[in-house]
Amino acid sequence: MYAKIAGTGSYLPSRVVTNDDLAKQVETDHQWIVERTGIHQRHIADPNETTSDMAAKAAKRAIEAAGISPSDIELIIFASTTPDQVLPTASCLLQKKLDIMGTPAFDLAAACAGFIYGLSIADQFIRCGTYRTVLVVGAECMSSIINWQDRGTCVLFGDGAGAVVLQASDAPGILSTQIKADGRHGDKMYIPTGFTNRSKADEPTYVHMQGQEVFRFAVQALGDIAEETLLSNHIFKDDIDWLVPHQANARIISATAKRLGLSMDKVILTLANHANTSAASVPLALDQGIRDGRIQRGHLLLLEAFGGSFVWGSALIRY
Ligand code: UT7
Repeated sequence: MYAKIAGTGSYLPSRVVTNDDLAKQVETDHQWIVERTGIHQRHIADPNETTSDMAAKAAKRAIEAAGISPSDIELIIFASTTPDQVLPTASCLLQKKLDIMGTPAFDLAAACAGFIYGLSIADQFIRCGTYRTVLVVGAECMSSIINWQDRGTCVLFGDGAGAVVLQASDAPGILSTQIKADGRHGDKMYIPTGFTNRSKADEPTYVHMQGQEVFRFAVQALGDIAEETLLSNHIFKDDIDWLVPHQANARIISATAKRLGLSMDKVILTLANHANTSAASVPLALDQGIRDGRIQRGHLLLLEAFGGSFVWGSALIRY
């Protein structure tokens, strides 16, 4: 039994903030941002638009693409670092918006790797026969946790949502997932807000990041996990049709592609349009690649992501 991608969907808020817009409020410029990251613009949610609102739009598109109705969904996994609020959980808010009361639903916090972690959990539930149809969503309102005066972080992030409906199938779908974490590096990328760490209680609710440190670790970790994934599945680099990476930095992505010997025309690169949307970035790229016809049924996809805490993962999928 495999977990097969039955449908994908995504959503980006209509408001676009360009690099030139940001250059009016912090000391930066379009050329620096493009050269160092590959980002041209980001989409920013309206003040009254929540993470679960964006997730609901992406989820409805994925459900429609799968040709099912919301009531067919047996489990909701919602990956996010920026849920609407602590309680109700974002997954239960989404359940309500999809009007599917009773469906089990939980939130998953694994930063930018949250969607890959979600795929991994969904895959286990489907393979062992517990559920046949699972909705995995990655959605973020990163603009709500960004210090818009910090040029080191504010140029990097955006808002959005992506979703995938997975269904049980006899034919191959998800071939393997790998998830990893190394909690020793928590100080290199963090958001101090919480309840019990009084030592950071005075720090504002912003993403704090040592960019270079994260960059170095991510390049190594993503290259390693990509190679391990191929090795453990007895897959040759040439067999990969598409690398669908976390959209954080074009230089990190090209380093992973280079390590795999993949040319950039085998990489789904969407970050120029939406910047780093954390847990939403891989499903956003996946949905775009599928909808614009590049990713075809039968193609072999390698998904990977790395995020704060540090957490990372990969998924090898026969689409
Ligand atoms: O998704 C979660 C994981 N996060 C990531 O993957 C992010 C990983 N890190 C990165 O993508 C890169 O480290 C950044 C894009 C954040 C930064 O790029 P960098 O090449 O590592 O730049 P840097 O931090 O070494 O800064 C180089 C220079 C500095 O100036 P000095 O000290 O050389 O005079 C910075 O102050 O660029 C300056 N700088 C900027 N200049 C213009 C930093 N941010 C900006 C900016 N505009 N926005």
